[in-house]
Amino acid sequence: MTRANTYDERYARPEYYWGKKPSTLCERVIELAPPREGSRPKLLDLGCGEGRDCVYFARHGFDVVGLDLSEVGLAKARRYAEEIGVQVRTVCADIVAYELDDLYHVIFSTGTLHYLPKRVRTCRFQDYKEHTTPGGIHALTVFVEKPFIPRAPDAEENSHPYRSGELLGYYWDWEILYCTEEIFDCRSSGIPHRHAVNRVIARKPGG
Ligand SMILES: C[S@@+](CC[C@H](N)C(=O)[O-])C[C@H]1O[C@@H](n2cnc3c(N)ncnc32)[C@H](O)[C@@H]1O
Repeated sequence: MTRANTYDERYARPEYYWGKKPSTLCERVIELAPPREGSRPKLLDLGCGEGRDCVYFARHGFDVVGLDLSEVGLAKARRYAEEIGVQVRTVCADIVAYELDDLYHVIFSTGTLHYLPKRVRTCRFQDYKEHTTPGGIHALTVFVEKPFIPRAPDAEENSHPYRSGELLGYYWDWEILYCTEEIFDCRSSGIPHRHAVNRVIARKPGG
């Protein structure tokens, strides 16, 4: 059984809560791991929401699985994919306990991995790394805590932002292709605030 998700309400509205524009790292993934002619590499989007990134990757030739806790979001992702004429498979699951059962060429996630409590992170990242093909990549964006940025007014209790640099540490034994920290303004909840994020793209040795 999956837990109730506060995103269900946001996703129940007809408009796309996160819009349809793909998120920041999508283009870089295509640059770094473009599907070869005749191949359909497997890509997993952890916390795919309403599918803006899943649809982008499916359009670029990936065999996409979108995973999210919100079935409302996943139904919207499937609808969006159908409209565009691409296929996206969906899995409704809680990343806190979910163990992968397939191998992926790319594991992607934007704005979701802070729902992993610190106690499960080493184990979950190990599982993600093991279920990646040699030469495959992970492209991840996580919220990080900075002492000079107040917690967001709409932050949930089960939100556990990362320590700056922590995400990079899980990839000490992979090739780091890209790593940044950015601070941006946000108006979610209607109250202006700021977020800091780390973005990491890492390649598994081999392949
Ligand atoms: C900030 S949204 C990002 C959505 C999407 N990645 C995007 O950028 O459009 C976070 C997503 O994580 C999902 N989520 C929250 N807790 C989760 C959990 N424990 N397991 C799986 N997904 C979860 C929410 O339903 C939501 O869709």
